[in-house]
Amino acid sequence: MKKVIALTAGIIGSSLCWAGPGDEINFPADYLTNFTPYLSLNRTQNPDQYIRLYINDKGLSGTEENGQLPYGTVIVGEVYKVEKDADGKVINSTLGERVINKLAVLAVMERREGAAAEYPEGMGNDDWDFAAFKPSGERANKDLTQCAACHAPHTGSHHLFSYQHIIAEQNRK
Ligand code: HEC
Repeated sequence: MKKVIALTAGIIGSSLCWAGPGDEINFPADYLTNFTPYLSLNRTQNPDQYIRLYINDKGLSGTEENGQLPYGTVIVGEVYKVEKDADGKVINSTLGERVINKLAVLAVMERREGAAAEYPEGMGNDDWDFAAFKPSGERANKDLTQCAACHAPHTGSHHLFSYQHIIAEQNRK
């Protein structure tokens, strides 16, 4: 019996050490100097946010035969809060765009071999892993399976919303 308990404790103990969603993504501290900015837009899901997107060189190096971006691709989304007026209404600029205020969170996707196994069934996203960081580089407390759930249905664009913009950036002369 003792043996069984010890074994069970061992299994539970080691399962705590297994990587879960986002665990293997390190904060990409060099993204401002080494990544390429490819798109900035008012966030489509959030009426009071703005996002700036950056991709590393690997992600601009080409695609696999099926069009998927290569393993090692890292994409960073700088999510900003935006300016509001005294009534709390989002201000639109002369250009009709939201105006960035405070950097709220860094949303990161990394295509990593085996990442799919860390997510629930149907949310593997073809090995895209997700992580969220505070601007300081500490991990932000986000439910990463929710990230995966929203990106999962987009199979036609390899689980990316900005896929066409990345391809355009790859082809930019
Ligand atoms: C409810 C849907 C939804 C959820 C949840 C979501 N995203 Fe996204 N994500 C989007 C949309 C839409 C875009 C396109 C840009 C925009 O409008 O913000 C996007 C873009 C991105 C991009 C740029 C690459 C791409 O797909 O174009 C990254 C990186 C990203 N999200 C990471 C995350 C992370 C990390 C989380 C969880 C902390 C997350 N997302 C949660 C909808 C979602």
